[in-house]
Amino acid sequence: MDISNKTEKVITFIRDWYQEPSAFIPIHRPLFAQKEKEYLANAIDSGWVSAQGDFLDKAERYLAEYTGAKHCVLTNSGTSALHIGLELADVQPDTDVITQSLTFVATANAISYLNAHPIFVDVEMDTLGMSPESLLEFLETNVQITEEGAVNKISGRRISACVPMHSLGFPCRIDRIGAICREYHIPLVEDAAEALGTVYRNKYVGTFGQTGIYSFNGNKTVTSGGGGAIVTDDDQIAAKARHIITTAKQKDSWEYIHDQRGYNFRMPNLNAALLLAQLESLDSFLEEKRLLAQSYSRLCDEVDLNFIHEPRGSRSNYWLNAILLDDYEERQQFLKDTNDQGVMTRPIWKLMTDLPMYKNCQRSSLSNSMELVSRLVNLPSSVRAVKD
Ligand SMILES: Cc1ncc(COP(=O)(O)O)c(C=O)c1O
Repeated sequence: MDISNKTEKVITFIRDWYQEPSAFIPIHRPLFAQKEKEYLANAIDSGWVSAQGDFLDKAERYLAEYTGAKHCVLTNSGTSALHIGLELADVQPDTDVITQSLTFVATANAISYLNAHPIFVDVEMDTLGMSPESLLEFLETNVQITEEGAVNKISGRRISACVPMHSLGFPCRIDRIGAICREYHIPLVEDAAEALGTVYRNKYVGTFGQTGIYSFNGNKTVTSGGGGAIVTDDDQIAAKARHIITTAKQKDSWEYIHDQRGYNFRMPNLNAALLLAQLESLDSFLEEKRLLAQSYSRLCDEVDLNFIHEPRGSRSNYWLNAILLDDYEERQQFLKDTNDQGVMTRPIWKLMTDLPMYKNCQRSSLSNSMELVSRLVNLPSSVRAVKD
């Protein structure tokens, strides 16, 4: 079967799945129910719409209990959560932070907001996330352990953190990455923005590092409109995070005492109301996404397309389903034919090392990342609305 016949079969499957014979089908669409409206109305009626309120407390408790993290601190975006996670890992200006080249730009941006320098290592073909081998090879070749910590012999800078990312919801080999980071005394900050609900070796991703972060942007598995979360087991980090995201203002009956430079990064209670309602549906969303992934997998077997499965020993949230085409030309054809017919598909991001602001950063060999960038396509992955 040639690629245009395979593409037609995929389009027919997607239109049947969503029972949309002709309408545009997006790659992701949020799903809201009556509960979302009720909780939002409650937040409005309470008058607590900004940085304090019951929904913030409830959603934080819910997420901490769900993931098994000791603490959860809600922020106004996944990017701000990552920024704070890195600042509290003591990422100082003129230090180096290791991450992967195949990621959404927010990962690298959060590093550079702190005037630190990203270093890009490769990803694995099966997990799409940071390759432990690539990380280890980089460290063995370039790093010396000194009294200051791990020092990069090339740049002369301390390596202040490592940020693996769980791409498209698939877990990277976070246990091995964690062990390598411990060996080199490098704090681990997990970018689990896309991976809420993903389990690796019986533990939720986001809870392996010193801190982990999630995003609740409108395109994520659950949304608060915009928002993010920091999860951690560290009491001090949680307390500091809470303090600096609310302008570092001390509790006082009337004085404005700000004891350090802080941020306005707190999630508003209004968004937390939406988030709590969505979190209460998370397990049903995950079940439905798994059903879709299984159906895509069967279809891909039938038409001989390469569907990306969750790695062994894991349960992915299947945030965005993905296939790997044979080469770049085939990928371009698939993207064109699906989008021309109103079925939205997307390539994966550009490599960070191909963006103007990060093109001169230190990097390892990125052969897997380059391969994935030229061949991977994301398929529609929304949870279906219940039809009347
Ligand atoms: C890998 C990754 N990191 C960070 C973010 C930033 O999250 P936000 O959009 O909520 O700022 C996103 C997504 O949007 C992401 O996909």
